Amino acid sequence: MLRNYEIDATWHYHNGTKHPNGMLLNRFHVYHPSHRPTPYKVYKNTSSIELTLDKNPTGVLTLDAISSQESFGNTTPDLKTLAKILYCSAGITKKIKFSGLGEVDFRAASCTGALYHIEIYIVCGNIPRLDAGVYHFDPKNMRLDVIRHGDYRGLVVDATANEQSAREAPVILIFTDVFSRNSIKYQARAYRHTFWDSGTILANTLAISSAHKTPTKIIAGFTDAPITKLLGVNPIQEAPILILTLGRSEPTASSIPHLSDTVPDSVPSDYDIEYPEITQMHDASSLLTPDEVSSWRVPLSIKKSQNTGIQLGDKAESSELIESTIIKRGSTRKFSLESITLEQLTTILDKTTHGINTDFSVDGESLSDIYIIANAVDGLEPGSYYYAQKNNSLEKLRQGNFRNASGNLGLDQDLPYDASVTIFFMTDLDKILKHFGNRGYRVAQLDAAITAGKMYLASYSLGLGATGLTFYDDLVTNFFSPHAKDKEPMFLMAIGKKEKST
Ligand SMILES: Cc1cc2nc3c(=O)[nH]c(=O)nc-3n(C[C@H](O)[C@H](O)[C@H](O)COP(=O)(O)O)c2cc1C
Repeated sequence: MLRNYEIDATWHYHNGTKHPNGMLLNRFHVYHPSHRPTPYKVYKNTSSIELTLDKNPTGVLTLDAISSQESFGNTTPDLKTLAKILYCSAGITKKIKFSGLGEVDFRAASCTGALYHIEIYIVCGNIPRLDAGVYHFDPKNMRLDVIRHGDYRGLVVDATANEQSAREAPVILIFTDVFSRNSIKYQARAYRHTFWDSGTILANTLAISSAHKTPTKIIAGFTDAPITKLLGVNPIQEAPILILTLGRSEPTASSIPHLSDTVPDSVPSDYDIEYPEITQMHDASSLLTPDEVSSWRVPLSIKKSQNTGIQLGDKAESSELIESTIIKRGSTRKFSLESITLEQLTTILDKTTHGINTDFSVDGESLSDIYIIANAVDGLEPGSYYYAQKNNSLEKLRQGNFRNASGNLGLDQDLPYDASVTIFFMTDLDKILKHFGNRGYRVAQLDAAITAGKMYLASYSLGLGATGLTFYDDLVTNFFSPHAKDKEPMFLMAIGKKEKST
C-alpha cells in the first residue's frame, strides 16, 4: 500500500496532539517569549529586488473580495501587483512595543503565537519588471531574494502531475514552514499550525488577488521532494506545504533549466529543534510520484446535513475596502460582553463559506462543517447551532446560555467566554483520510483555516473583533454531539465586539 494511505500515521499524530492530554505533548513544556526565534528567513550573499508598495487601493470592498466567485480571464500580475499581493499576505502591517521584548513586528495575517513560521517563495516566468526565476519574499525589507535565475515553472508543473492552472500560471507561490519557529512553543501540535497559519495567510492572498482580478488556485497535491529540491531547503527544518497559482496565460514551455544543488546560503534558524512526530507526519503525507499525484487528485464533496431551521436573511453592509481591512486586522485581545447582530453573523457566515478554488474540493465547497455557540447575538436565542451552508440556515442544537462551555472549550481562556459567538470548524476526518490518505490531514486543516481567515476579514470589515483560538479537541466533539459525533475540530474562531479600551 502507498505510504500516504497508511492512515494510522495521522490518527497517531492527531490523537497524540490533542489538548489536554495528548501523549505526544509534554504538559510541563515551557516556552518563554525571550526565546522567540527570528521570525524571518534571512539569505546571505544573494542579490535582491526591491518591492515598492503601491498604496492606491483597488477600490474593491472587503466583503466582495473575500466572497468573489468570478472566474477571471487571462491575467499576468506585474511586479507591482505581486508586491501588493505579498505585502497583503505576509507583510509587516504594524509594530507593537512590549516591555522586555522590545518592538515586535505583526503581519497581515494572524499566526499562532506571532511566530511567523510560514515563508513564501515565488516561481515565475518573465513578467513585467521581473525576470523569470525562483525568489524568496523578505517581508522585513520588502524585497525578493534571488534563489535561482531562469524559468522553473515546468518543474512545478511536473510536480503537480500537469495540473492545468499550474501549466497556465505566470506566477506560482510556494509556502513553506520553518517548523522549529513554531514548535519551540507548541511542540508537536505545531504541524496543525502549519496549515492553520498558512490558511489565514491564504485568505488574504485570495482576497487581494481577487481584488486585482487575478485568478488563483490552491494546489495541495504535488510531489514533495522535487519542490523541496527546487527551493533548496532541508525538509526536516523547512518543508514546502502548498502551492498557489496566480494569474493565467499561455501554457508554460516544457524545458526546465538545469537544477543545480546549490542555492544561496541562509542564516540558520535560531533553534535546531526537531520534533520527530512532525517529520513523520510530514513524510507520511508526502506524495512520491506524479502518477501518485494524479490518482490522488479526485476532489471530494462532503454530503452535509441540510436540515432547515432558522432561515438567515438580511445581511449587514460594510463600505470597508479590502486593503484597509487587512491593515486594520488584528487578533482581538479582549471582547466586551455586548451582542453582535444576527445580520452581522449572517454576513460573516454567508460571505466566507464558499468560493475557494482548490484541487481537493468540488465547486469551492468547504470540507468543514460549522458549529456555533451563540452567547450574545441580537435576534438569535443563546444556544448551540449547526450552520447549513447550502441553504444558509441555522439548525438549533440546544438552547441555553453556554458561555461557560464556550470559554472551557477554548482552552479555558477569557476570549471564547467573552466573545459573542464561537465558531468551530469540524470535519469528518475519517472520511477525508480514507479518500485523500494522510495528505487529507493537510487538506482538512487548511480548508478550515482559509475560511477562518476570511472570517477575520469579514469581522473587521464590519467593525467587529475576532481571534483564532486553540481548543480541547474531544470536549468540542462531545459538546456538539450527537450531531458532531464523528467529527474532529479543526479550527476555532471567536467573534464579538472589541472592548473599547483595547
Ligand atoms: C489558529 C490560531 C490560533 C490562535 N490561538 C490563540 C489562543 O489560543 N489564544 C490567544 O490569545 N490567541 C490566539 N491566537 C492569536 C495569535 O496570538 C495572534 O494571531 C498573533 O499574536 C498575531 O497577532 P495578530 O493576529 O493581532 O496579528 C491564535 C491565532 C491563530 C491564527
